[in-house]
Amino acid sequence: MRKILREPVRDATAWRGDDIRDDPSWRVAIGEREREALLAGLKAVQPKGLWFHQMEAADFPLDDSLRALVARIRHDVRDGRGFVLLDGFPLRNLSIDEIRLVYWGLSLQLGTCVSQDGRAALVADVWDRGQKTPPLTRAYGSKRESKLHVDLADVVGLLCVRQAKGGAPTTLASSTTVYNAFLEKHPELVPMLYEGFHWDRFSEHAAWEKPMSVAPIPVFSYAGCQLSCRYNRSWISGAFARMEKTMSNAEQVLFDFFDQAAEENRLEIDLRPGQMYFASNYTVLHGRAAYEEETEDFGEKRHLLRVWLNMPAFRAFADEATVRYGLSSHGNIGWTGAELLARKHLEPSHRRSFVAGTA
Ligand SMILES: [Fe+2]
Repeated sequence: MRKILREPVRDATAWRGDDIRDDPSWRVAIGEREREALLAGLKAVQPKGLWFHQMEAADFPLDDSLRALVARIRHDVRDGRGFVLLDGFPLRNLSIDEIRLVYWGLSLQLGTCVSQDGRAALVADVWDRGQKTPPLTRAYGSKRESKLHVDLADVVGLLCVRQAKGGAPTTLASSTTVYNAFLEKHPELVPMLYEGFHWDRFSEHAAWEKPMSVAPIPVFSYAGCQLSCRYNRSWISGAFARMEKTMSNAEQVLFDFFDQAAEENRLEIDLRPGQMYFASNYTVLHGRAAYEEETEDFGEKRHLLRVWLNMPAFRAFADEATVRYGLSSHGNIGWTGAELLARKHLEPSHRRSFVAGTA
């Protein structure tokens, strides 16, 4: 029996952008000592000549300062507000390959990093590749607006390497606050949120898989006193289009209200080079304003690096196979480096995603 929460959530995940904008507690400075430790990690791992797929957390040594930083990130993302912004990641005098390696080395300490797209990228490049408007494409390869949404793994990390000259505001919002808004303004739509919707695979599924999620993915679900959100209007609309299904009036109101409540409560961050955030995809929505950029030179374009990772014992799930893995179990998405090396993604069975306790 599905449990529907009828009371607003009042924990740390329920925040409003206006209330925390000037609160320093979600900003963490990476100090000189941590920077030196990150560069020492780079020096230690480089001579090993490992591919990203082969690298393990132990290949990138940590000192006490980095161990504390990792604990802080884990705490804020899993047990706190749901996100943290870090400032001062070392970029100067490093090549993009070295930056990528340091970022990967740090990310491996946080959990199990997984592949993110049809090319099975482990550290994905987020920049304008000239992708045009939908239908059925993902937004991170274009300059168009990316509405507030969640990504497919437990946690998303984004590191700004280079920003567009005119800026491109990053937005974050609490999905818990959106839920509370539904309870207040549209309680009649709450059961529909729990029933959920199919998500399109945006043609990133394998030949033997369905082009949409197998089951509807609940927009909100509740277990163990924890509310979890899965929402991306673009992917859900993709499934409607693929099914040639027209949205009902109630569905239209639901999606419009979700977007409106998320926007109204958003936090806008002007992400600068060397800043990065990690955010829980169950409690924090992320997006980006549309932006302008004159250059077509990939050496000058806005450039961010992204990781997706699953954290051990992340939270309770009402239905783990659907809520946690129902989105990240298709094509080349959701695989660890070791699984990719073992060519698991080329087999039509034995997906890691449905094996309990592997995260
Ligand atoms: Fe995203």
